[in-house]
Amino acid sequence: MCIRDRDKSSVFSLSVFEEKKICTEVSAVGADINPDTILTKKEKKILTTHKFEKRRREWLAGRLAAKLLLNRFFQLKPLNCEILRDENGKPYTLKGGEKIFLSISHSHDWAAASAACDGRYLIGMDIEKIQYRPRAWLHDFFHTEEYSEDVSTQTFIWSSKESLLKALGIGLTASLLDIKLKMSNPKLGAFELADSDIEFSGKARERFTQLGRPKLQIFGKLIKKEYAQTWAINL
Ligand SMILES: CC(C)(COP(=O)(O)OP(=O)(O)OC[C@H]1O[C@@H](n2cnc3c(N)ncnc32)[C@H](O)[C@@H]1OP(=O)(O)O)[C@@H](O)C(=O)NCCC(=O)NCCS
Repeated sequence: MCIRDRDKSSVFSLSVFEEKKICTEVSAVGADINPDTILTKKEKKILTTHKFEKRRREWLAGRLAAKLLLNRFFQLKPLNCEILRDENGKPYTLKGGEKIFLSISHSHDWAAASAACDGRYLIGMDIEKIQYRPRAWLHDFFHTEEYSEDVSTQTFIWSSKESLLKALGIGLTASLLDIKLKMSNPKLGAFELADSDIEFSGKARERFTQLGRPKLQIFGKLIKKEYAQTWAINL
């Protein structure tokens, strides 16, 4: 590990769902990160293109999480690897010419990065702060069958949809209404959804079909009692 002064109180790693072969690192958005210790020259240039301090901080924290992950699980030194983006913005890196697909997310105080332990293609991860959202928001993004009065459930549904769209590599170029989830009895400390609980339509369905209708599953976990973190992966 070549990142020095790693503050254990502000940066921690999670090996959640190790049995599912997903690795994840989390870092604090407010942490004092020295870009010189983790970013290549090209990445430092990208950092300067982010005009707002908040965006710079979350971008940097996401990069730190990704570089820690690549170091710990893929033996790549932070300054010897670069986080690239495909034409739709999906992040990846290269190791010996092979692509390792990553997923990055940030929400308020935390940023996280995930990969399948073998670098496999279809992984999407999302982290969302659990907080009240107005009824109109539910109406815009949820199917009637997905409505819940419970704020944690709402956040897990929202986050699961984002994870799926990231796994498909299309992000919010598709509508969240292109996904319908069956969350009949969510156990929100940690939950799983099988591919039979996931229904695609519209652009998400097009992409899903294009990818050969992979068997996607979703896992979710409550982080620090305040955040919902979800992963979508084709196991
Ligand atoms: C990906 C997306 C769903 C994430 O939404 P969000 O909740 O605001 O942000 P999150 O923090 O959870 O995720 C952001 C990360 O998603 C990743 N990402 C971006 N596009 C992605 C895509 N097509 N597929 C997978 N991951 C993607 C990036 O790594 C980004 O972090 P970074 O910019 O710091 O590297 C959304 O930003 C998106 O769809 N972006 C692409 C389309 C776009 O830019 N549209 C412009 C407005 S219409």
